Amino acid sequence: MKRICFIVLCFALLFSSVSKAQTTDTKMKTFIDALMKKMTLEEKLGQLNLPGAGDIVTGQAQNSDIGKKIRDGQVGGLFNIKGIDKIRDVQKLAVEQTRLKIPLIFGMDVIHGYQTAFPIPLALSCTWNMEAIETSARIAATEASAEGICWTFSPMVDISRDPRWGRVAEGAGEDAYLGSQIAKAMVKGYQGNDLSKNNTIMACVKHYAMYGAAEAGRDYNTTDMSRLRMYNEYLPPYKAAVDAGAGSIMASFNEVDGIPATGNKFLLTDVLRRQWGFKGFVVTDYTGINEMEAHGIGNLAQVSALALKAGVQMDMVGEGFLTTLKQSLKEGKVTQKDIDNACRLILEAKYKLGLFEDPFRYCNASRIQNDVYTPDNVAKERAIAAESFVLLKNQSDLLPLKKTGTIALIGPLGDSKSNMPGTWSVSTDLQKAVTLRAGLEKAIGMSGKLVFAKGSNLVSDSLYEVRATMFGRSLNRDGRSEEELRNEALAIAKNADVIVAALGEASEMSGESSSRTDLDIPDVQKRLLAELLKTGKPVVLVLFAGRPMTLKWEQEHVPAILNVWFGGSESGNAIADVLFGDVNPSGKLTTTFPQNVGQVPIYYAHKNTGRPLPEGKWFEKFRSNYLDVSNDPLYPFGYGLSYTKFEYSELELSTKQLKGNQTLTASITVTNKESRKGKEVVQLYIRDLVGSVTRPVKELKGFQKFELAPGESRKVSFTITPEDLKFYDMNGKLDWESGDFQIMAGPDSKNVKTVTVNWNK
Ligand code: BGC
Repeated sequence: MKRICFIVLCFALLFSSVSKAQTTDTKMKTFIDALMKKMTLEEKLGQLNLPGAGDIVTGQAQNSDIGKKIRDGQVGGLFNIKGIDKIRDVQKLAVEQTRLKIPLIFGMDVIHGYQTAFPIPLALSCTWNMEAIETSARIAATEASAEGICWTFSPMVDISRDPRWGRVAEGAGEDAYLGSQIAKAMVKGYQGNDLSKNNTIMACVKHYAMYGAAEAGRDYNTTDMSRLRMYNEYLPPYKAAVDAGAGSIMASFNEVDGIPATGNKFLLTDVLRRQWGFKGFVVTDYTGINEMEAHGIGNLAQVSALALKAGVQMDMVGEGFLTTLKQSLKEGKVTQKDIDNACRLILEAKYKLGLFEDPFRYCNASRIQNDVYTPDNVAKERAIAAESFVLLKNQSDLLPLKKTGTIALIGPLGDSKSNMPGTWSVSTDLQKAVTLRAGLEKAIGMSGKLVFAKGSNLVSDSLYEVRATMFGRSLNRDGRSEEELRNEALAIAKNADVIVAALGEASEMSGESSSRTDLDIPDVQKRLLAELLKTGKPVVLVLFAGRPMTLKWEQEHVPAILNVWFGGSESGNAIADVLFGDVNPSGKLTTTFPQNVGQVPIYYAHKNTGRPLPEGKWFEKFRSNYLDVSNDPLYPFGYGLSYTKFEYSELELSTKQLKGNQTLTASITVTNKESRKGKEVVQLYIRDLVGSVTRPVKELKGFQKFELAPGESRKVSFTITPEDLKFYDMNGKLDWESGDFQIMAGPDSKNVKTVTVNWNK
């Protein structure tokens, strides 16, 4: 009886939420129908326009260039203006001085936090902790919405297998499955359950699509791949974000199949709207429409019409829509219906955000005090940052360090506030970030001594350093010679008990338009590291990086390596937490680290080829390999050490013969073998041994993260269904095929226990 009541209740709830959604939709439609009836063509085109905000001075919105445009009804929204007063000023122009009083939408690149900066997205993904990732997005939304922002250009879900591409820093790594889980968590964190609440903001999934597959890792470059790869390996995270209800999506700069994504009907209409049922709006990336001229597919009028017809609704910065669509309509190149559809989707977004009801919903100054950069937000960031670090090597348990004795902190990244938050932290106060030097000093307190020297500049080439430290990230280049700087560092190092070398990339060496062809630690720093090692003191390399770097030499010579990415506001404290063992590292790589750049693209879910290299060998003539280096990565996907050791049992399966929709349970027992508690990420992989098309050698299909006390064991179980066996065909149809499947589980993509099952339809 109880069960029946429960089912009835569930149905009632489901029905009431469906019908509530329906009435909201009907109300929205009635409202927008009535509004659009009053709108002139110019006013409709104005809604499609997202100009750059320019430099609006508080109190001067009225007199600014953008102010005039707003009053003329030529603006649908603005982005990257910071400050509630400025936002309030421009919103007032829109709702008090335009004919129809349509509010503006305010966007911003809130990529990994707002004022409280969280680790860069690549680092966040290495937590493998969906709750933590959702929390970071939730806090970002709460903070941003307290200062007038209602729309973020995040999550960035571009899969990338090319560490030369600087924007790997902004995504979740190389894997479609993990990327999809993260995309969902981020959308949920930003949007919550109700977009009209004043502490939720609309997500904008970017960059649609395949932006991360730029040839040679050079930003904005051509992307060209088979439909099979597209559907199975690159599109899933965008789809997951759409399924999670993301309100908007951003078209990418790159071309796909010879058509820039911004004008690509296959992507924007056939896949996004028809196959996935996307209901939100599409915005271009920055001048994405105008750039189609340089791509070479038409003049501004032609490419603007192409974008509109392909399925773009909002034009960021370039004003192609604003300046050409009226004429194109006259000439029959676009239709009134095309323009109306686009305008409706923008108005709907504003309606869902509650802006028509209250245009100042996100401008409540009293929230700033209570919601932004609070001690609680900062504490959460510190914990999440510590969880994102990946321990790559820890010979003879050099780490954790003791808080006593003398620690020599050496390196150009040891004492830089502005380089801690990471690329794309436009809304944080860089000067509030905690440096590694400050974090270590605080942690040591009176019990030990910290000495510091810069040791080297970032790179030997001063012009390269300028390019690598833009946007206020200067590392204050030291005019002394390489030798002078190094000698100063060696002098303090020789009296220390341990050396912490804070080396790697400046934060702007990754991110947009920051591709690199050489992924080594920069020249001068590497020479410094070699000299530090020669002192014979134990050396811990604390590596700052926005991408996988090539660390073959370091792996051979440095006893301990902690990859800390860019950890956000609390970086220095979080690194100290891990170095001293107050937090046991648990991050695992979400992207393969190559041995050298020549191996790129290198990723775990590759195909087998017709001439695979036999297991255990690293070269055999007429096999798929290299003469000079093995096929192995330096560190595989999923890899990361802990201060404790976890032991894995054999993999147990509930059966080895399955039929149809049966489910399979795969279990493995993990034991913490040492005397320190620690978190482990158990990973499940599947290989479809024979298919109608070739299938990857393994694909991630599940993972579980949990903490084990010293000596504790846990049996981890995964339920596998035919859903997990499915893959897309060339037309985007998803299905599975009968046959043999290898089920694998382990601590990373390389070290797995394997059992084969047979599963028939
Ligand atoms: C970037 C986007 C970003 C946009 C707005 C572009 O250059 O590619 O990721 O959202 O600028 O700032």
